[in-house]
Amino acid sequence: MLCDNIHSALAPFLARYEQVCVVADEVLTIPDWPFPTLRMRVSEETKSIDSIEQIWDFFLSNGLTRKGLVIAIGGGVLTDMVGFASATYKRGVDYINIPTSLLAMVDASTGGKTGINHRGIKNSIGAFHAPIETLICPQWLNTLPPQQFLSGFGEMLKMGLIVNGEKLWDALLQYDLDRMDVKTLTPLINSCVRAKEEIVAADPHEEGLRKVLNFGHTFGHALEELSLTGKAGLLHGYAVVYGLIAELYLSVTKLGCPREPLQQLTQLMLHYYGKPQCKCTDRERLIALMQQDKKNERAAEINCTLIKNIGSPLINQVISTDEANESLDYLFSL
Ligand SMILES: NC(=O)c1ccc[n+]([C@@H]2O[C@H](COP(=O)([O-])OP(=O)(O)OC[C@H]3O[C@@H](n4cnc5c(N)ncnc54)[C@H](O)[C@@H]3O)[C@@H](O)[C@H]2O)c1
Repeated sequence: MLCDNIHSALAPFLARYEQVCVVADEVLTIPDWPFPTLRMRVSEETKSIDSIEQIWDFFLSNGLTRKGLVIAIGGGVLTDMVGFASATYKRGVDYINIPTSLLAMVDASTGGKTGINHRGIKNSIGAFHAPIETLICPQWLNTLPPQQFLSGFGEMLKMGLIVNGEKLWDALLQYDLDRMDVKTLTPLINSCVRAKEEIVAADPHEEGLRKVLNFGHTFGHALEELSLTGKAGLLHGYAVVYGLIAELYLSVTKLGCPREPLQQLTQLMLHYYGKPQCKCTDRERLIALMQQDKKNERAAEINCTLIKNIGSPLINQVISTDEANESLDYLFSL
């Protein structure tokens, strides 16, 4: 739910619970509430079982029961972790997400996927546990660093390519990324959230339709995981933009999708995101990462969501190693 004022939006929920525990990213200035609050430093490295133990300990030391409420305030790393800690604490406690990064607003904080990284594998431990509400206050974005803004915008671009209802793709292309104005972005955030909610409601546990949300993510996740072994990790939304280009290329060559969205996204990427930083000398590792992707139906095959056109995604498209290499050649030649 979009909201202007976090206090009035939370009030009806607070009235229903006797106990409330708040977990918030330590970089944020948060309201002065009379609830026990745990401040956490977040990163992909600390998205780990150690942090979950810290959250469970915080709940236990404040006597949180199954009837209590947890409030998570932060980006996708924090909402994923607090969601997972809430899913597993006393077999499940209610929580509300208050996303503060663009990526968390449009993607991570809705849909009920929670989890942590384990042994270097992203989100490999997790649970489906939906928040009772997600309160989206776009004003948080006023303090978000530009790179993080662009990262979240990457997930919005994906949504624009897979849904058609409101000509979202055209509206996203027209959005002025030089200004990053929050007010004009708000209706686009709303469209993305509504689209995701509809898809998730139809297929909460990703048995079919929900896989459309994985467009750009087979290549994107592999690039992101490869970058975790290097000096500078790739932000999730940047990896998604590179993955979208690779998978749009396959959509053109395999499914006859028009070239226009590929050309539009390529221009936008070169202008705002830059070329992929990883030089991708390790092609074998990239292909192996795609073959191990947890979204695959069968071992050792590469499975992608592709599009036939804007708004017409097709799930479970099997890609050969040669095809994967060809689209990587395209991406790295830009
Ligand atoms: N559960 C899902 O369905 C889902 C979907 C997509 C991504 N994810 C996960 O989300 C994570 C990425 O989320 P993210 O990009 O929000 O990362 P993040 O939580 O690390 O936030 C990005 C950075 O922005 C800072 N930040 C957050 N809000 C801020 C604000 N208002 N002002 C200033 N700084 C702020 C954070 O401290 C952090 O440094 C990944 O771990 C990914 O796996 C989950």
